[in-house]
Amino acid sequence: MKNELKSMFTEYWKYLAVNAACELEIFDKIFNGQNSSEKLVKSNNWDSRTLMNLIGFLINESYLNVLENNDYVLLEKGNLLRKDNPEGLYYACLNWSGEHLNAWQNLKYSIETGKSTFEQIYQKPYFNYLDEHPEKLINYHKAMFEYAIDDYKELPNIIDFSVHNSIMDVGGGYGAAISLIKKKYPNISCLLFDIDKVIEHVTNESIETVGGDFFIEIPYNADAIILSRVLHDWDDGKANLILQNCFNALPQNGTLYVIENCTDKIQTNLSLLSLNMAVMCQSYERSSMEYKKLCEAQGGAFQESKQLNGLQTILIFKK
Ligand SMILES: C[S@@+](CC[C@H](N)C(=O)[O-])C[C@H]1O[C@@H](n2cnc3c(N)ncnc32)[C@H](O)[C@@H]1O
Repeated sequence: MKNELKSMFTEYWKYLAVNAACELEIFDKIFNGQNSSEKLVKSNNWDSRTLMNLIGFLINESYLNVLENNDYVLLEKGNLLRKDNPEGLYYACLNWSGEHLNAWQNLKYSIETGKSTFEQIYQKPYFNYLDEHPEKLINYHKAMFEYAIDDYKELPNIIDFSVHNSIMDVGGGYGAAISLIKKKYPNISCLLFDIDKVIEHVTNESIETVGGDFFIEIPYNADAIILSRVLHDWDDGKANLILQNCFNALPQNGTLYVIENCTDKIQTNLSLLSLNMAVMCQSYERSSMEYKKLCEAQGGAFQESKQLNGLQTILIFKK
């Protein structure tokens, strides 16, 4: 038991070592020919001994392999962390260091006060902070896209979207979910709604982009709305406002799809995810009953729920 505890205390070293390798783009460099310690040290002027220890860890944890001639070769995990791998998790890896780590270091403040430690440190809500740091905003959305394109791959197969003429993904980021839907249902008019600074980076021309603020107004554009991993970022007051604007935007009988990590629908314990929401956004992961209550209070009639994957549930409401 003591050994288990002693190992656990320093588990975060592992993530931070991989994060440093990503920040230094070591996986890309090896892939592109700097595939030995000599080449890495010479090309980048890095400290040889420290680099060798990082490489030793990466080999031990199966990110890399060493060939007989001492050249390095990427294994599957290393390949997934290449910055130029469109199906990888490079930005997802970076996402949990920096501000996230600073916020988590102060977790006890959230327990004591119920407030976000992020806001205590940075003096503004997380999304306002991202808004003011263009590079961080881009990296955050690239990370969300990497998660989403994987998490939502079955969404167009689980839901029969062909019953709709038009669908709008509200707070859809770079449009992973709506792009997957458009690919399977090319005749549906697909719209993506997010703040202007996000929308301007979306390049998928088959999707119509709409910039705006979901706390002010969501334009009347589609007969179905998807609200995916949005409500969990906000406390009940703000979540109510977003839902009110969604139901205002929908026509009578329109459909709202809420996709969230519902605490009661899966085997995995979501306490740590919920603590993450607390430190970052002063929010928490809710149960399906809590989401139903929020949606019904704003005029949604619950229809059914479907499991999207091992984490997310799709809750379907009619106006
Ligand atoms: C956690 S991300 C979810 C992104 C995407 N739906 C997904 O599941 O990957 C929350 C999204 O809400 C958007 N958002 C935050 N505040 C907003 C606002 N006031 N108006 C519109 N969108 C907003 C963010 O830009 C971001 O894309």
